[in-house]
Amino acid sequence: MIERTLVLIKPDGVQRLLVGRIVARYEERGLKIVGLKLVRVDRDLAERHYAVHRDKPFFAGLVEFITSGPLVALALEGPEAVAVVRAMNGATRPHQADPGTVRGDLALETAQNLVHASDSPETAEAELGLWFRPDELLSYEREIDRWVLAPPGS
Ligand code: CMP
Repeated sequence: MIERTLVLIKPDGVQRLLVGRIVARYEERGLKIVGLKLVRVDRDLAERHYAVHRDKPFFAGLVEFITSGPLVALALEGPEAVAVVRAMNGATRPHQADPGTVRGDLALETAQNLVHASDSPETAEAELGLWFRPDELLSYEREIDRWVLAPPGS
């Protein structure tokens, strides 16, 4: 099933000059970029995005971190995109992330784990609505789609 999912390349990714390399991983996999922007996150958006963690001891630090500098919000589309991107990012705690994943290759700390991705199609829909206006998410065909994607209806 073709899905859309939200990725955030967090402030540590921007500061470490890793934006291009992280975006390239998703592009090279074949995922389609349907939304992309640099965002200076305010407290309100950060708290809404991480609302499920509101009662966790790390919540204050998490909001502090995510608002500490610009981040990149990315909307990706493809078959089972939610699960594909979660697998590419690796486990939340970098010491548990497999080599070959974003975190397993590039991160060491749970707070500075470079990326966030939606954890279910339902979460993806809600998170995409939080980070992108409808007109910022584009639908378009790529020439390579016939080499990357199964034909519609197959
Ligand atoms: P993310 O996928 O963005 O979702 C919640 C984030 O909280 C998580 O990645 C981590 O970056 C961050 N975080 C900070 N401390 C912890 C912790 N102790 N346990 C889990 N997540 C944490």
